[in-house]
Amino acid sequence: MLIGYLGVQPEDHCNRFKGRGYIIPMTRKLLMHVGPVTIDYDVLVAGLRGDVGFTSQEFIDVMSFSLKFLRKLVGADESYQPFIIPGSGTAAMEGVVSTLRRGDKVLVVSNGVFGDRWKALLNRYPVAVDVLKANPGDYVKPEEVEKAVEDEKYTMVTMTHVETSTGVREPVGEVAKRIRDKVELIVVDGVSSVGAEVVKMKDYQVDVYLTASQKALGIPPGAGLLVLSERAVSRLSDESVAGYFLNLKNWLDVMRNLEVSKGSYFATLPVHLVFMMAKAFELIEREGLENRIKRHERVAQGIRTGLESMGVDIVAKRPEAYSNTVTGVLLKKANPADVLKEVVTEGVELAPGVHPALAGKYFRIGHMGWVTPNDAIATLAVLERVLKRLGEPINLGEGVRAAQLSFS
Ligand SMILES: Cc1ncc(COP(=O)(O)O)c(C=O)c1O
Repeated sequence: MLIGYLGVQPEDHCNRFKGRGYIIPMTRKLLMHVGPVTIDYDVLVAGLRGDVGFTSQEFIDVMSFSLKFLRKLVGADESYQPFIIPGSGTAAMEGVVSTLRRGDKVLVVSNGVFGDRWKALLNRYPVAVDVLKANPGDYVKPEEVEKAVEDEKYTMVTMTHVETSTGVREPVGEVAKRIRDKVELIVVDGVSSVGAEVVKMKDYQVDVYLTASQKALGIPPGAGLLVLSERAVSRLSDESVAGYFLNLKNWLDVMRNLEVSKGSYFATLPVHLVFMMAKAFELIEREGLENRIKRHERVAQGIRTGLESMGVDIVAKRPEAYSNTVTGVLLKKANPADVLKEVVTEGVELAPGVHPALAGKYFRIGHMGWVTPNDAIATLAVLERVLKRLGEPINLGEGVRAAQLSFS
């Protein structure tokens, strides 16, 4: 059942291609999604272990290495505390609640669906929440955030570095600089940025940077990752409004012990995933973080140049809002659901649009993890064929040509 696993029924598959006079055996697929992303083979097989206990020295060592490497990924030094917890990006977000006390006030800077998630999450706790919202495709300006924290006293400001629902990047360093002295805690959701965008946690004086395994780090889903400043760690107390499992106070000693190669337990860690994580971190170290960020930037630029030359519009409104990891593509005529269905039959999987204000108008291309210029070219080539077939007014061949030129 090779075809079924792509989500395409064999019947469908054959019918689709009969009319075109050829059949593509769907044994391989290019995953240009917003996470989980394609996993490097060496990363995948690193988790194929049948004999590792959570107290084994091997596991303790990969945890120690991964915790130390996590600091480097966000530009933090030894004074910052890394956490690797079971779960996902949302688990890491909820872990942030560990730093809040009853009655604290939080300002959420939201550029879309994942910014809004902070409000939905924080509303479950006895804290007050205000939201500063950007129009779809844009980001909240640093001066607006500055004004908001001058007008009102907030304990915490949350930002989303790259808003995955629109592919928009917030200038988090600039915002942090403007508000640093006016709030206690600055939190950045780096789920779609860490490993692909410049992240300078220490320079920006950010208190919490968080991410998830399945995005630009190119690891399967299953872990939430956080790095906390000393100030954030000092707020992990019994006064916190957090629950039990995601209360970082319960994980603090475990992380500290594991980092110095001492076995420790609060709840079971995703042991096999951490082996994959350590392999991915080893590959990132070999590539060099700067090179990796540059590669993401080049691929993202190639994709956007290709799309623009093809004649389609991008959701992010201005070049300053473009991200290295996600591009939203607006359609004039074609239905995005049809585009997603068609591209899969040509061997490429893309992501649906999820911003409610743009429902039915766009889809997303994820370009993160182990993505290459070849992946960008293949994606653009398939998109050109599919969009043409679906009646979207595009310049066939121009997208691929522009991307080729940008990579040459
Ligand atoms: C920016 C951002 N934050 C948070 C999340 C939530 O992460 P998860 O789905 O891993 O819980 C996502 C997921 O795509 C995201 O893109």
